[in-house]
Amino acid sequence: LDKFVSSQRNDISRSMVRELCRKGQVTVNGKVAKAADAKVSENDIVAVKGVEICYKKFVYIMMNKPQGVVCSTRDGESKTVLELVPPEMFREGLFPAGRLDKDTEGFVLLTDDGALAHRMLSPKTHVPKTYFVRLRDPWQENYAQAFAEEKCLPAEFSASVNCPDECTVVLHEGKYHQVKRMFEKLGNKVVFLKRIKIGELPLDPDLPLGSCLEIMHKDVERLLTTKSFKCK
Ligand code: URA
Repeated sequence: LDKFVSSQRNDISRSMVRELCRKGQVTVNGKVAKAADAKVSENDIVAVKGVEICYKKFVYIMMNKPQGVVCSTRDGESKTVLELVPPEMFREGLFPAGRLDKDTEGFVLLTDDGALAHRMLSPKTHVPKTYFVRLRDPWQENYAQAFAEEKCLPAEFSASVNCPDECTVVLHEGKYHQVKRMFEKLGNKVVFLKRIKIGELPLDPDLPLGSCLEIMHKDVERLLTTKSFKCK
């Protein structure tokens, strides 16, 4: 029981559960729990001080990462994405599934579901990642062709109709600094980069920079959608 409660509620430690049990403030299926080491399963209804604990095996968090924050679990100097997760969403074992550069903004998925992260990041799955790009110099007519012919895996380039220095790029694999390197090869330079979609799940446009949103089950599936990719 103590392990179950503390795994679901970051603000309640196992020793706190023991204390709450002593005070009769924990119930299992409506009955006051006497022992913190009682066996419980996902199907039991557990409540602490009358508030039900909704069991979730895993959590999936959409973050709108700001510039200056790093996608690692620990960093001596810079703030990490984990430090931006609000305490009520935080869980032991949470990690960023995939990396954005320190100066890249946008959609980072944080989860404790290692299997989903593995599938999402696997080069075999080809989950597309969509980026909004602002360039130093206007895009050129040949870019779409050049991206389609990318050596590793073809990428998709779409120019903005209204802004000559803006475009979107869809990648099917995420090598280190890939978007920046692709434009450098074309003699241009990325001056602003934001990930706006993973699979078929767009970054919520109302999610402020530095904020988090819990992704619900039906949307988790969309993270793995690869329908737009045609392998040569
Ligand atoms: N490509 C890059 O160059 N940087 C990122 O952060 C993501 C993709």
